[in-house]
Amino acid sequence: MNAFQRCINPQCQATFDVAEVLHRCPQCGALLDVDYDWNKLPVPKSLESFEKYWAERANPFRYSGVWRFHELLPFAPLEQCVTIGEGQTILQRNDGVAQFVGKSADSLFLQYEGLNPSGSFKDNGMAAGTTHGRLVGARQAACASTGNTSASLALYCGVSKLMRSIVFIGSGKIAYGKLSQALDYGARTIQIQGDFDDAMARVQEVSKALGIYLCNSLNPFRLEGQKTIMFRVLEALRWEVPDWIVVPGGNLGNSSAFGKAFIELHKLGLIDKVPRLAIINAAGADSLYRLYNEENLRWNEGNIDSAKIDAFYAQMDKENRRANTIASAIEINRPVNLTKCLRALDFCKGVVRKVSEQEILDAKAQVGANGFGCEPASAASVAGCKQLVAEGVVGKDERVVCILTGHQLKDPNATVAYHGNDREFYESVLGKRGVKTTEFANRPVVVDNDVERILDLLK
Ligand code: F0G
Repeated sequence: MNAFQRCINPQCQATFDVAEVLHRCPQCGALLDVDYDWNKLPVPKSLESFEKYWAERANPFRYSGVWRFHELLPFAPLEQCVTIGEGQTILQRNDGVAQFVGKSADSLFLQYEGLNPSGSFKDNGMAAGTTHGRLVGARQAACASTGNTSASLALYCGVSKLMRSIVFIGSGKIAYGKLSQALDYGARTIQIQGDFDDAMARVQEVSKALGIYLCNSLNPFRLEGQKTIMFRVLEALRWEVPDWIVVPGGNLGNSSAFGKAFIELHKLGLIDKVPRLAIINAAGADSLYRLYNEENLRWNEGNIDSAKIDAFYAQMDKENRRANTIASAIEINRPVNLTKCLRALDFCKGVVRKVSEQEILDAKAQVGANGFGCEPASAASVAGCKQLVAEGVVGKDERVVCILTGHQLKDPNATVAYHGNDREFYESVLGKRGVKTTEFANRPVVVDNDVERILDLLK
């Protein structure tokens, strides 16, 4: 087999068969990668060569925005790959948002991953994760979730009928639209007292004890699917590498996957430039920000100072600091992919920033007013870009792609509170979080049920 699993710790690098179900290296405890013996695989000569598949869209594997790049994630035979039509997403040049963040026209692009079948980027990863689950004969698949992962897993299991889905959610910590998807698609839904970090810890224990296939981004196969978000960005830019990729940071799966994508593309000689990576935390869930910028934690050729991480989490527990942000998808204080993300930051000369609730909501309103809209967590990327432009880290003319990870219809309370007239509702959703202004609000107009008055109003 030309694909295998490999420990990311350069001092260990232990390898394991693709057919093994592992989440960490059994020898040293580090995270695992899916790796390939590229010399024995038919590596494409250029990225342009993927364009030949555009003419084969009647074939579901060529239609899929994940599997049309199969040569770059060849851990399973193509005919065994799971697809439900994921990855038909759009890269939009957006001059309105460019103006908002202080950039010149033509220089800012939004990648709408919310256009996936379940409404978020997770479908890229779930296509790959459930493919591996199928390879190993899994009958049940589980995840912890703040919403999007659960909707995605439930959809893949519901449509493919390959596995039964089980989702772990924290009480009161899931957006209703997402909970409704999990329930509607038939997932067994386990609600626990606690937040995402608690649910993540429990699902790992339960999966291990019962041999249930785990579909969180700790699963290295899931991240293989998420690499394709970058392939599609390059595809939409006609294979020109942008200067910056800006992405929200929660469990740090995307940033890790993007880093791996660029490491591999570079190694394979398919790109000659590497974009810089900006990862944006919410201020209320800023572990990466603190560890990277305040504790100076680095990849350091794989020699990560784990004592620093342990001390950081011990202090967090001592202060009982819990993640808290309106951007529910990134309300995570213990990112499971932290070490892989450090590798990505190292390779892509990355930066990490944090943004306030106010900055997130204003950015979200601007994406809505100028584009297709997004959920609050996704808008962190635009808010972070604005900060980086103001600092002069991102140049006004540099080409930037902000990844919008989830659909506008997630967390509608935040949107309605921002735009609406109901002061009490506003206070309960946003005011209490320190959001003081709604500069870009589009308020509904309240009018009597009287046609003359309505006509007067609209004249
Ligand atoms: N954006 C959205 C819309 C998400 O749903 C998530 C994660 C993230 C960003 C963070 O991604 O891990 O790549 O840094 N959502 C998880 C969930 C927690 O349960 O749906 P990351």
